[in-house]
Amino acid sequence: MKPLGLGAIGSGEIAINSIFKHLELHDTDDKVFLAAVCDPVEGRAQSMAEKYGIRSWYMTDDELLADPAVDVVSICSPIRFHYEQGLKAIRAGKHVHFNKTMAMTSAEADELISEAERMNVKLTVSPGMMGWRANRLLRKAYLEGSFGQVTYAFGGVRGVLRYHLREEYRHDNYGSEPLIPTWYYKLPDGGPQYDHAPYGLTSITGILGPVKRVSCMGGQLQKEFRFGEKVIQSEVDDNFAFLLDFGDNVFGLFFSALAGGKNMFTPNIYGTDGNYIDGKLNDKALFDNPYAAFSIKGIPPQHMKLPEPHVYGDMMQLIDAVQFGDRPIASAEQGRHVLEIVEAGFESMRTGRCIELRTSFTPLSLEELQDD
Ligand SMILES: NC(=O)c1ccc[n+]([C@@H]2O[C@H](COP(=O)([O-])OP(=O)(O)OC[C@H]3O[C@@H](n4cnc5c(N)ncnc54)[C@H](O)[C@@H]3O)[C@@H](O)[C@H]2O)c1
Repeated sequence: MKPLGLGAIGSGEIAINSIFKHLELHDTDDKVFLAAVCDPVEGRAQSMAEKYGIRSWYMTDDELLADPAVDVVSICSPIRFHYEQGLKAIRAGKHVHFNKTMAMTSAEADELISEAERMNVKLTVSPGMMGWRANRLLRKAYLEGSFGQVTYAFGGVRGVLRYHLREEYRHDNYGSEPLIPTWYYKLPDGGPQYDHAPYGLTSITGILGPVKRVSCMGGQLQKEFRFGEKVIQSEVDDNFAFLLDFGDNVFGLFFSALAGGKNMFTPNIYGTDGNYIDGKLNDKALFDNPYAAFSIKGIPPQHMKLPEPHVYGDMMQLIDAVQFGDRPIASAEQGRHVLEIVEAGFESMRTGRCIELRTSFTPLSLEELQDD
């Protein structure tokens, strides 16, 4: 099969780090090549094309989608554009990799999934956390009964609003204006819920399965952030605590916090006959080497050394789904479920109610984990 042409919609931090730097290694040229990039900021797409050898550059997504060399797109724009751009791409017959989240609402995600079926195109949705070695081993341990009856899991994410101010790439100008991360602090798509919570929520649901009900408390702690000399007025809530009901009286506690101890992308898990706490499964270290926890299925060492290897992995799963029919780990159905948890969190905050979820997904089976 001939290599697929990839188009990046948006050429900011994630496009550079998860796509351009990885495809620049040219070790997967038989599968995929950089066909096009678009970005509405004057000079940015052009400078990316020149720097990374991308065949064509455009100012608009419509021009990129009209390019016959583009078979597959990765949506790397701010989250508020994902639904509209994803829908246009699907209707143009392109396969789509979404950065998280795939849309702003689960109803929009429904439409994306059904349109993709109608158009017979494939989707993957980052962050596909069940490629991570630690999460796979814990899903396997859970299915094999190593915890006995699970009682609760505890996970969460923290610090992302400060992290985006420190991303070193933002201070280069790439032939255009600096990549100031203002949108991360503005409504409707800023804040840690859409951008950061999906990491931990994808892991906790990938290990224990879909959630049935959600309640959440949250609000704003910090009103102003600084990117160098620039002051960014924040419009977003930045500190959240979730209670997740997995059914049958199994619960999850999940934080999405402005600051805190550490990211728990992989949750601690407690049960009647065992537990997983901070790297140890029933008191035994899961890995000899702490970095092994972050190794990702199917990602070779040369890519693990680069930034954002998991996002690169989710994009490559799409290529493999198109070329070989593989079931992607970073599935659209799980992406939609995680999005519904985020959405339900906001509804719970507004109403003070516990919200029933309607979406689900099929988590990894023991058979799919047999080589782990
Ligand atoms: N920064 C990270 O650490 C990180 C990691 C993983 C995933 N993501 C996700 O990647 C996506 C992009 O984040 P980012 O950090 O790269 O943002 P960014 O602000 O660095 O870059 C976004 C780019 O999109 C361009 N853009 C704006 N409107 C556009 C439009 N309508 N069409 C096409 N391009 C448009 C901007 O000009 C900019 O170049 C988000 O979904 C984010 O959650 C970010």
